[in-house]
Amino acid sequence: MILLGIESSCDETAAAVVADGRLVLSNVVASQTELHRKYGGVVPEIASRAHIEAIVPVIDQALADAGVDLDAIDAIAVCNRPGLVGALLIGVSAAKAIAWARNKPLVAVDHVRAHIYAYSLRDKAAAGPVGNSRETDEQVFPCVVLVASGGHTLILHAASPTKCTILGSTTDDAAGEAFDKAAKVLGLGYPGGPVIDRIAREGDPTAVDFPRSYLKPGSLDFSFSGLKTAVLYYWKGQNGRGREPSERVPLPDVVASLQEAIVDVLVDKTMFAAERTRAARVMLGGGVACNSRLRAKMQQAADKLGVRLLLPPPKYCTDNAAMVAGLGYHLARAGRFAALDLEAKPGLIR
Ligand code: KG4
Ligand code: ZN
Repeated sequence: MILLGIESSCDETAAAVVADGRLVLSNVVASQTELHRKYGGVVPEIASRAHIEAIVPVIDQALADAGVDLDAIDAIAVCNRPGLVGALLIGVSAAKAIAWARNKPLVAVDHVRAHIYAYSLRDKAAAGPVGNSRETDEQVFPCVVLVASGGHTLILHAASPTKCTILGSTTDDAAGEAFDKAAKVLGLGYPGGPVIDRIAREGDPTAVDFPRSYLKPGSLDFSFSGLKTAVLYYWKGQNGRGREPSERVPLPDVVASLQEAIVDVLVDKTMFAAERTRAARVMLGGGVACNSRLRAKMQQAADKLGVRLLLPPPKYCTDNAAMVAGLGYHLARAGRFAALDLEAKPGLIR
């Protein structure tokens, strides 16, 4: 079964062709980062307009790269939630138009749950498996998953690709948002995650003791807004009048320390969830799962606890449509098709 996947929930316009939910025949991502950079974050109206311009060329490119035309597509999977509603609407409208014009089944895919599916994808072009991925679903699920991105931070228990329960989520900012906002305070540009990851490699993560918010004992929820404020006041203080440059903590040390504060909370809570659910496997997904310190510390913690860590390759951690087509395949197999009145929804399915 060959699916065309479409993704437009935030600032990436993406389309992909995936065979049998696994083999990625093409994966096209048009990023709008440059358009949003000068505003220091995603501007919803600019995102919607850019999706309108990109959606048709991106879908055409995905079909061309896969060497197929629409006749070969068995179903269209589209991300319809959660995200910016104006942005989602563009992908959803394109998917509905193709489904209606070509009489193809339509499948609605939840973006957060699609991030969980990234680990199961395999590249056509690669000589060997990419990341993992010759594994069967039984070798991957059940697992505890941390999905950490610019819009979401959740810990879920995934019994199968299509069955998962939320164990915890953010009460304010998402982890990626904490990286992005801290980078803005420090004048490092947008998006903050990749640049913080790079600069932190030169710094001492113990230089500044930034707060780590654990909320109530045993809680699997997150709060990152306090960290953003702490970084702001710390940075203002250390660059304030009367401070000699020699007294200042070097930028890489500040950056490594704030990254450590985010990573520690993500690792501790994910491991706590794994312990509590007696999980044998832990998986990462979402853009923040690209973070090299998070990957390394999660691996150490997983080894200590005796659980297997499943890490998707970075290109499938950030937003893409291959994960949408991949999960869409399982929903199609289960007969879970959407009607042509499918709506774009901003919120997460709880
Ligand atoms: O999953 P994603 O591409 O889009 C959303 O669904 O939000 O995640 C984007 C987020 C951004 O906040 C970005 O700063 C963060 O992922 N990110 C990283 C890294 N690469 C991307 N955060 C930390 N370290 C990275 N290497
Ligand atoms: Zn995402």
